Amino acid sequence: MNKLLIHGGKPLIGELRAAGAKNAVLPILAATLLADEPITLSNVPHLRDVTTSMELLGRLGAHLSVDERMTIEVDPRAVDKFCAPYDLVKTMRASILVLGPLLARHGYAEVSLPGGCAIGSRPVDQHLYGLRAMGAEIEVEAGYIRARCRGRLRAARLVLDLVTVTGTANLLMAATLAEGTTVIENAAREPEVVDLGECLIAMGADIKGLGTDTLIICGVPRLHATHYRIMPDRIETGTYLVAAAITGGQITIRDTRPGCLDAVLLKLQEAGAHIETGQDWIHLDMQGQRPQAVHLRTAPHPGFPTDMQAQFVALNAVAKGVGTITETVFENRFMHVNELQRMGAVIRLEGNTAISTGVAQLTGAPVMATDLRASAGLILAALVAQGETLVDRIYHIDRGYECIEERLSRLGASVRRVS
Ligand code: EPU
Repeated sequence: MNKLLIHGGKPLIGELRAAGAKNAVLPILAATLLADEPITLSNVPHLRDVTTSMELLGRLGAHLSVDERMTIEVDPRAVDKFCAPYDLVKTMRASILVLGPLLARHGYAEVSLPGGCAIGSRPVDQHLYGLRAMGAEIEVEAGYIRARCRGRLRAARLVLDLVTVTGTANLLMAATLAEGTTVIENAAREPEVVDLGECLIAMGADIKGLGTDTLIICGVPRLHATHYRIMPDRIETGTYLVAAAITGGQITIRDTRPGCLDAVLLKLQEAGAHIETGQDWIHLDMQGQRPQAVHLRTAPHPGFPTDMQAQFVALNAVAKGVGTITETVFENRFMHVNELQRMGAVIRLEGNTAISTGVAQLTGAPVMATDLRASAGLILAALVAQGETLVDRIYHIDRGYECIEERLSRLGASVRRVS
């Protein structure tokens, strides 16, 4: 069951509840390794990356239990292995997030080097720079990062070369148990980093500056039990908003955080969407209109998220006019463009910019998903294309979107999973 068969052409209309955020729950699951008591997490999305993280924690020796509402309890007290092996890291790069916590809590960690992936080379030099500055001895050999420290890590003043989300998360987690006050400059401001920080504070950490580019972490000797509710997924919310916009439909998304989506909502308005927001809901109405093409550049938060780029390339493909989209975060995140061209999209790639001349109608075709957000872009294009689109390698989408075919079907789309 690894393909989605989509008959396009129906406006999506209805209401959805946002799921918990993938990119918040992954670091927070890793953070449970820092505690010496059980941590309970709710609003956990049902995703393949979550299952992979749980498997990793289990292999390290943690005890996990899950109830029918995806509330997960992680008891890290029995952790007695310190290795994230290649077979797990190759399926989920976010496994690198156990490096900081294992090292800070147990003084040793071994993590397979993640290597490149479909969106770029994705080095982890900033993670290693920060941990070394905090006193870790790190060797990289035979494809593994081996890190150790004698006693506790020690505080340091870290200035990151570039804004990195998991790099900031790893160093933030490590610093919570270090001796002294660590400062991380040029830190990521992504809402998911803030969510991780709030969870660490609930576990007893002392962190100031969340949501700014300077984090100040005063190390504590231990972190304790807590119950934490994962924030809603802003990228999932954004993807469904584009699904409604691209099909000329209307949608209300509940249990979400409009404040985390400012850059995306602005571009949807420029595309012609009527948007209303409340404290935890967003309503979008396209009033049956074809979208206008938009111009945008991806950038770290609060800029336009790279994880919404493929969805807007799909939107521009069917919009009125010419739109340009520049990718500045990852070097190779336009794999969906060739597939969209197979559906009749007119897109020219110039360096890291996709210049689209919108066509009135895309045509369904067999296409191949190459990564999570590229798959989302192809599915959105398929929803508005004439005829049938078969999206292959859909396992990518299950890494980050809960029950996507059920949710789209509930909004009126014709989507079926086939083998
Ligand atoms: N980078 C370095 N050195 C480092 C770390 C990063 O050069 O040590 C570079 C990367 O190669 C990239 C840029 O810095 O060009 C930003 O990468 P970042 O580290 O911020 O990305 P990430 O932490 O690996 C997370 C999300 C991604 C999301 C990016 C950017 C998680 C688990 N992953 O990745 O999510 O695209 O931040 O916002 O949080 C997705 O959900 O589909 C996804 C890819």
